[in-house]
This record gives sequence, structure tokens and C-alpha cells, in this order.
Amino acid sequence: MSLLDLDAAAREELAAKVREEYETLKARNLDLDLTRGKPSSEQLDLSNDLLELPGKGNYVDASGTDVRNYGNLKGIKDIREIWGDLIGVPVDNLYAEDSSSLNIMFDLITWSYLFGNNDSQAPWREEETVKWICPVPGYDRHFAITEKLGFEMITVPMLDDGPDVDAITELVKDPAVKGMWVVPMFANPTGVTVSDDVVRTLASMETAAPDFRIVWDNAYAVHVFTEDTPQIINVLDVAEEAGNPNRFWVMSSTSKITHAGSGVAFFASSTENLDWYASIAGIRGIGPNKINQLAHAKFFGDADGVRALMQKHAQILTPKFEAVLEILENRLGEYDVARWTTPAGGYFISLDVVDGTATRVWELARDAGITLTKAGSAFPKGEDPNDRNIRLAPSLPPIDEVRTAMDGVATCVLLAALEKLEG
Ligand SMILES: Cc1ncc(COP(=O)(O)O)c(C=O)c1O
Repeated sequence: MSLLDLDAAAREELAAKVREEYETLKARNLDLDLTRGKPSSEQLDLSNDLLELPGKGNYVDASGTDVRNYGNLKGIKDIREIWGDLIGVPVDNLYAEDSSSLNIMFDLITWSYLFGNNDSQAPWREEETVKWICPVPGYDRHFAITEKLGFEMITVPMLDDGPDVDAITELVKDPAVKGMWVVPMFANPTGVTVSDDVVRTLASMETAAPDFRIVWDNAYAVHVFTEDTPQIINVLDVAEEAGNPNRFWVMSSTSKITHAGSGVAFFASSTENLDWYASIAGIRGIGPNKINQLAHAKFFGDADGVRALMQKHAQILTPKFEAVLEILENRLGEYDVARWTTPAGGYFISLDVVDGTATRVWELARDAGITLTKAGSAFPKGEDPNDRNIRLAPSLPPIDEVRTAMDGVATCVLLAALEKLEG
């Protein structure tokens, strides 16, 4: 029965019970953390062979080049071939870089700001305002980049099939709108995968700015909980067919596949976009860490090697996600005080609580020793206009801690909802 349907006496009885549960929770002096979507050590252990690769004496790539030396801005073909096969992009349209895709995103946008990109008439810094579309809830570190550059961030809702394209097609009629963020598969934090129709609309829509770009951050393309890896749509082809070949900057990395801090990041795009990127990247540096790229190529073997590894991750992650969903349903389902996503992959569950109570839930959890990602962090500048959303990241703690933390969070969600009703 919904909380609102309870009569006054029943509500008071429930409030007394939930307050008692909360006091018991606090008395446990917990110290639990559900904040960042990092892999657990058990997951990191899956790739420990990398620590011994490419191995003494192995420093020549398939083309016969010594990977210990400077050079090869594009990255070695051995890893680009595996990755191109995995994400369905021709190897010539793919660069392999150092460990962080976020670094590449930061570069692409900063360089467009400083110098203009290959379709710009002028650097973006010369514009009175640069506007950027931000699907919400979304990834806080994306929003931090566009905030740092002083862009005006315009939010659009993330719907069940991707960002709201009706809103977007209107917004891009403004030439000050230079781009947008999107995580197309198992998105952070909603778990949503963008539908083919939405992809086609984004690829074909007319934009007033000729240098408009979509950062297509496919960070979770192969991070599935099931045995079937969904098809990864080649947006570069779709964009080319739609007559907008330069629209997408496609990102991915091995961060949540091998070791998060020492993986390989990839950038796929049109030849023109890559040439522009190389013209600046070649000044910023001489070439990426190719020894690490060779190590990864040897470790994976081929694209199936990556998929097989993701199945091992799934075996560790799935029970944690199931535990979160089961506790949310058992503890909150009947009261109608929260909604949550049930992702089939990725790293997050997005939890919507009663409007106006997300900050209170976060405080109650903090006071009970459970650290949650700050309410609002999935919105630009951390401002959730409805104070409703909390991002749950169950990957890092062991499963018994995930259970304890989530049971505590459920108590906090109920208590905050009851407090709001009590006025
Ligand atoms: C959507 C998204 N993109 C990028 C990253 C970071 O990627 P990288 O480690 O390649 O910089 C994350 C990490 O949480 C993420 O969630």
C-alpha cells in the first residue's frame, strides 16, 4: 500500500518502526561506501596476468616496430584491430591512446575551445556563449568538463530509449549549441541503451552550428550482466549515410575491463576528425604508451577474449546488482516512495526518491555511516531541480557490505519520505 494511502494511525505506527530501525542502524557504527563506480579487487584480479605482459623480450608489435621507442600517434595496430572488431569500427578510424578516455574528451573539447575544430569558423572561445546539451541524470565528470570551460549546460531528460530527441532537435537550431554528451549503452547512471531510432535522429538532425559534436562515450559497451553482448551500432556509418560524417566523437576504454588506472583508451571518428585531432595531439606528445597497448593485445588475444573476460566480470557484478534490486523491492516496493532502474549492464542503478528528499536521504545515510554519491551529482553543477535522484554504485564493496548498506539506504529513503509527509 502506498505511503499516501495509509491512515494517520498506520502512518504513525510505521514512522515509529522506521525511526527505531534508523536508531539501530546508527548504533552499528557502519563505515560503508557506495559512491564511485570502481571495479572491486576481485575484478581487478581477473587481469593480473597483465602485470607480467608483454614480458621480457616482447617489445615488437605485429608490424615489426619496437614499441619501446617514441612514435606511432595512432597506437599499435595489434590492439586497434581487436578493438575495431569489438566495437564495429574500421581500424583506420580508430586511435588507441593512453589510459583515460576522459583525457581525450577533455582534449577534444578544450582544443575546440582554444583553436576551433575542423568544421569551426572560429575557436569556440570567441563565441559570446557556448551551450552544451547534457542528458540527465548523467555522468558527473562529463558535466565537470563543460562546467570548467564555462559552457552553459542545458539539460534534457534521459528517456527509456535515450536522450529526449524532440527537445534536442529544437535546441540545436541555436548556433551557440556546440555539442552534447551521451553515454549510449548501459548509461551512467540510468543503464539506458540508446535505440536505433534515436541514433538515426541524432546522426541526421540539422544543427545550426556546423562544428556541432556529439561525445559518444561508449564506456560500457561490453559491460553486460547477461550472456548476450548487444550489438554495438556503428554510429560513424550512420552519420556518414546521413550526410554528417563528422558528427560523432566516439570514446571507449579498457578502464573497467582490465585495470582502471592503467588501461588503454580509444577514440574513433571520421578521417577528417582524426586528422584534426592528430594535428594537435602530435604537438601535445610524441605517442602513447605502446608497451601497455602490446600487453593488452597479448592479454586479450582477440575480441572474443574481451567478451569472455566481461562474462567473468558479470559473474562478480550481477549478484551485487541483484542484491540491490531485491532489497529496494522488498523494503520499498509496497510504499511507492521510490523508483529505480533495473540495468542489464554497466555500473550503476539510478534511484529516484520522493521529490525534495534526496539530500535528506544522503544526510541520513551519512549520519549512519553509509556514504552515498551526493544527491544531485548526476546533474550539471550538482543541482537536481527536483532533489530526487541518487546514483547507486554497488561494484566496489563485497556483497555482504552491499546488502547492509542498501538495507540502511532503504530505511533512510522511507524515513525521509515520512518526514516529508509529517511536514
Ligand atoms: C561514462 C563514463 N565515461 C568515462 C569514464 C572514465 O573513463 P576512463 O577511465 O577511460 O577515463 C567513466 C568512469 O566512470 C564513465 O562512467
